[in-house]
Amino acid sequence: MLIKRRRGWEIPEGRSTPESAWLDRRRLLKGLAAGPILAGAGVGLAGCMEEAEADQQAAAPVADPSTGLYPPKTNMRYRGERPMTTEELATTYNNFYEFGSHKNIWRASQVLPIRPWTVTFDGMVEAPKSVAIDDLLAAMGPLEERVYRHRCVEAWSMTVPWAGFPMRRLVEYAKPLGSAKYVTMQTFQNPEIASGQKQHWYPWPYVEGLTMAEATNELAFMATGIYGKPMPPQNGSPIRLVTPWKYGFKSVKSIVRFTFSDQRPVSFWEAIQASEYGFWANVNPGVAHPRWSQATEQPLGQSDRIPTLLYNGYTEYVADIYKGMNNERLFM
Ligand code: MTE
Repeated sequence: MLIKRRRGWEIPEGRSTPESAWLDRRRLLKGLAAGPILAGAGVGLAGCMEEAEADQQAAAPVADPSTGLYPPKTNMRYRGERPMTTEELATTYNNFYEFGSHKNIWRASQVLPIRPWTVTFDGMVEAPKSVAIDDLLAAMGPLEERVYRHRCVEAWSMTVPWAGFPMRRLVEYAKPLGSAKYVTMQTFQNPEIASGQKQHWYPWPYVEGLTMAEATNELAFMATGIYGKPMPPQNGSPIRLVTPWKYGFKSVKSIVRFTFSDQRPVSFWEAIQASEYGFWANVNPGVAHPRWSQATEQPLGQSDRIPTLLYNGYTEYVADIYKGMNNERLFM
């Protein structure tokens, strides 16, 4: 049994209420309004039991045939420019709601079967196709390591060495039609393995979207590894998105499907609470979350908070994408 301890750098509840708390409260209120009091109370109880169960699950890791691809060569253009977060912290303090609505899901997520793993490309593409992850990795050419800053909407941050390949390469491989404007990425769905997906009030599966300009921006990265090794399940094995200029919830984990479309998708958190989590979600210290400030952040493992930077400090790479889009909620 894992004992939860609050560490020094963890954010006090009052400063940044996790989504799970208000979500459960809303459901509870809904349940109370809708009928028997026990139905509402049951939601909270089920949540607690689910967390306890998740903490206890720990299966043998599935062998990863891509181990030989790591560590890849470091791309010196992306150095993070902050002290690196320790591997221990980055792999044990995670958001992966499929395995629980708390940070301590790393043990529970070890049951994720990372092979066989098929990735599908469909929607507005020349021809839909499905490919095994190792064939996709082979088609993407050499992997590289990039150190990126990672800023969660909850106001904590990390600096992480990701391994993978530019998303632009994956878009070229998918061959979208010229009329495609967006790409939606979808996480696996398997409630038997991911107990969080039994929490039916979430709009599973987790989906996120980017415009084609964002997806082909040089920073958009498909990560398949971390700290010179294949990605562990808790960080989104075997393939996840990393968009360092956006809040972390855009960086969808454990992707099984890329769908190209001319319609803007509604993402997971946007479907839950559009007034707090929008499509664009670009980092901006000047635009507060409705319930807390985004002016500063807590780097994991460090004692002092630091100022948050516009586009998480990546303005020179991405500002052009958003020129003339003043009517959009770019920072929420
Ligand atoms: N992807 C899926 N499928 N499920 C999730 O719950 N959480 C998001 C994002 N991707 C999430 C997800 C959030 S809120 C954050 S901050 C990052 O993953 C966390 O990534 P990390 O655990 O590797 O730091």
